[in-house]
Amino acid sequence: MPWKVIITHKIPEAGFDILRENGLQIEILSSEYINSYRLLADQIGHADALLCLLTDTIDSHLIDRAANLKIIANYAVGYNNIDITSCNRRGIAVSNTPGVLTETTADMAITLMLAVAKRIVEADAFTRRGSFRGWEPMLLLGADITGKTLGIIGAGRIGQAVAKRAAGFDMKILYSDPIRNTTIEKKYGAEKAALEKLLSQSDYVSLHVPLNEVTHHLLNDERLGWMKPGAFLINTSRGPVVDEQALLKALRLKKLAGAGLDVYENEPQITPGLIDLPNVVLLPHIASGTVETRDRMARMASENIIAMYKNQRPPNLVNPEVLDRG
Ligand code: GLV
Ligand code: GLV
Repeated sequence: MPWKVIITHKIPEAGFDILRENGLQIEILSSEYINSYRLLADQIGHADALLCLLTDTIDSHLIDRAANLKIIANYAVGYNNIDITSCNRRGIAVSNTPGVLTETTADMAITLMLAVAKRIVEADAFTRRGSFRGWEPMLLLGADITGKTLGIIGAGRIGQAVAKRAAGFDMKILYSDPIRNTTIEKKYGAEKAALEKLLSQSDYVSLHVPLNEVTHHLLNDERLGWMKPGAFLINTSRGPVVDEQALLKALRLKKLAGAGLDVYENEPQITPGLIDLPNVVLLPHIASGTVETRDRMARMASENIIAMYKNQRPPNLVNPEVLDRG
């Protein structure tokens, strides 16, 4: 029997070719976000494979209804939206899309850093509304990047790609990670530091950790308080890594000079007050959003499904225990 693949939302076509070539039956649930959970709960019982987004919460209730499901291919590198424990219990493989979005996401972290430091969004609005009266010595002064200290929290693939770019700006790089990364040290001169030291010495702090119980509210009121006065925070990881109320407070009190955010604690809601601040740049979770990257993610998610279909090991399996227990 050819497999039935449920895809929760429309993704780039690049993903479908390989599924179709292998004769799999594709069903796209919805092109809207609304009600997809209920739809999925109705349909998941018939699926052999599920290709879902980071906005789909795949909890134990859904997994318990997924009688035929063999694999969940998440169209994202982060997979905090999936209850892995329940998948392990039911023997369902889970895959993600690592590597293919590393460079794009690192580019966006640097873009946000430059945008807040150089006040790009404010300056563009200023020019558009006709306020430009000519060169002025004190007009829209920003902050330097070159020679400043960047604190990278999470030195995985993306954190390392950010360090590579920052080294080009002659930044001093500190990183915090449970695991020592000798590549980032040797190639980009980064120095491993405890979180308190990193936060108190960095002019810019960029987050590159996965979201889990340990990193939830990693930057809370207390730790935001450790940040150097006048520093900037960049978040392209997951919103709940930062206590958004505490961040709002630190920005309002001008303890922090600004923030560049691609992700939010309760997406798509944004903590009221944040949008009133001129010194924040707010993006709608698009750090991996380039045509090329999204195509690569679509192909990669599908390739994991095909591997499972062919009784091979999915190349981007995140819960190897389900296949290794024999
Ligand atoms: C995007 O946020 C991802 O995890 O791929
Ligand atoms: C995520 O892909 C990371 O390892 O940084």
